[in-house]
Amino acid sequence: MSRKIHVEILDDAEAVGREAAARILAVVERKPEAVLGLATGSTPIPAYRELVKLAHERKVSFAGVKTFNLDEYLGLSGGHPQSYRQYMNKYLFAHLDIPLWQTALPDGAASDPEAECAAFEARIHAAGGVDLWLLGIGSNGHIGFNEPGAPRDCRTRVASLAPSTIEASAKDFGGAAGVPRQALTAGVATILEAREILLLATGAGKAPAVAAALEGPITPQLPASYLQAHPSCAFMLDRAAASKLVKP
Ligand code: GLP
Repeated sequence: MSRKIHVEILDDAEAVGREAAARILAVVERKPEAVLGLATGSTPIPAYRELVKLAHERKVSFAGVKTFNLDEYLGLSGGHPQSYRQYMNKYLFAHLDIPLWQTALPDGAASDPEAECAAFEARIHAAGGVDLWLLGIGSNGHIGFNEPGAPRDCRTRVASLAPSTIEASAKDFGGAAGVPRQALTAGVATILEAREILLLATGAGKAPAVAAALEGPITPQLPASYLQAHPSCAFMLDRAAASKLVKP
């Protein structure tokens, strides 16, 4: 079967960051009121750094852009230093002319998390849907906090973190015991509704998940494999993350 996902293999994480930033900026240049889906984690940091640089160099305004982030830890308010809201402000929003009220993340401290998830979905819908959703991938194949077992039709909801995800986040919380056990996450169906998807993966630790997502069966056991069915999805990989592909 020919692969529908477009794969780009670059030298290293910095090159992935540069290419990804150019792709994102092109969307905003084409459509100044673009709706972007965004991700956190260590992977997109070079892309955000480069995006800020490019936007300044080319004088591209983000004043009309709206953003939606994938996820937030349950129980963490936007003021918590480990919240994804703080991450986004630090790495991206503080350096662009985007008004903060046009940037949305699920509120981890909402008194009614289920209602918060429904409101997040409604807000995406009201914005006209997402033009481009930037994703990372967990070493277990998760996207957002859609862990192995997440069904194709799940939407924004409260989800439990897999043990390997808790381990991976331990460094940010002074040990695994401090990691929130649950998060609010955009669902698989929410993500798949984006008009374009761009998944970034760097480092050898992601190689098995990347190979399974691209070359394995579509299965709930590896949520990133659902992307195979998306009409416009690209993976940007460095050599290490692409190292387990049979057909690079
Ligand atoms: C977290 C996030 C994901 C992210 C993943 C990979 O669990 N919820 O959205 O893609 O981890 O993170 P990193 O880029 O740090 O490897």
